[in-house]
Amino acid sequence: MNNKVAIIVGATGGIGSAVARKLAQMGTKLVLVARNSSQLEALATELDPTELLIVPTDITDPQQVENLIQKTVDYFGQIDILVNAAGAGILKQWNKIEPTDLDAMLDLNLKGSAYTCQAAANIMKQQKSGHICNVVGILGKHSMAMSSAYCASKFGLVGFSKCFADEVRRYGIKVTLFYFGGVDTPFWDHVSLKVDRSKMLSAETAANSIMFALAAEPQAVPMEINIQPESHLFF
Ligand SMILES: NC(=O)c1ccc[n+]([C@@H]2O[C@H](COP(=O)([O-])OP(=O)(O)OC[C@H]3O[C@@H](n4cnc5c(N)ncnc54)[C@H](OP(=O)(O)O)[C@@H]3O)[C@@H](O)[C@H]2O)c1
Repeated sequence: MNNKVAIIVGATGGIGSAVARKLAQMGTKLVLVARNSSQLEALATELDPTELLIVPTDITDPQQVENLIQKTVDYFGQIDILVNAAGAGILKQWNKIEPTDLDAMLDLNLKGSAYTCQAAANIMKQQKSGHICNVVGILGKHSMAMSSAYCASKFGLVGFSKCFADEVRRYGIKVTLFYFGGVDTPFWDHVSLKVDRSKMLSAETAANSIMFALAAEPQAVPMEINIQPESHLFF
């Protein structure tokens, strides 16, 4: 991973920051992305700031995503890795979901990640290499009560990602989808559902599996990785 350039979207989140720390330790040049710039700066201070760029970006805005990719290429000249670890959860009963809730889920979890995939792949296509990691979650392939809006966005992201992967593999671009069960991160601070965070996966476990996929041999494509907490298995 030494000398590679990785964009971490959702870099200040539980999973994103754990991945950023691991990549920084391996000498990867990092582009840290989220909306809150003071949190991005705090993370950058903790990591090696010489090989690091901060680009505050709201990924629901395709113009801001284009700006992120342009700034990355201007600064580092290439994009080897994109980790899509930005997202949020609105978990409510079906008849409590407002149109704005549905919009928020689709705009961020589905469309925001699709925009970053498209923009990064335009550069990776020219390079004839790249690896995109989409952190979907287990609710991208299994249903759960109170999750219809969230599941819609995540099932949508899986549909997008699989078709996209079929198209971009001819340019040497790998796409890996991660289906984590509950991960103990600030994601759950904003969810009203009662959950037992002590039984969830750690962000460290999630980040280790992303590192595993990124370390695969050039000819190997880890397409999907499922990891669930022992207490809450979906088959
Ligand atoms: N935690 C879980 O149990 C779990 C399980 C499976 C999958 N996932 C998925 O994993 C991903 C990361 O989750 P997490 O647990 O690490 O969540 P988290 O700790 O809440 O972090 C979310 C990150 O996304 C960023 N973000 C939110 N809205 C954004 C926007 N519009 N533009 C750019 N960045 C934005 C946040 O920063 P700002 O607010 O500053 O923008 C933050 O860095 C999400 O897609 C989530 O659905 C989570």
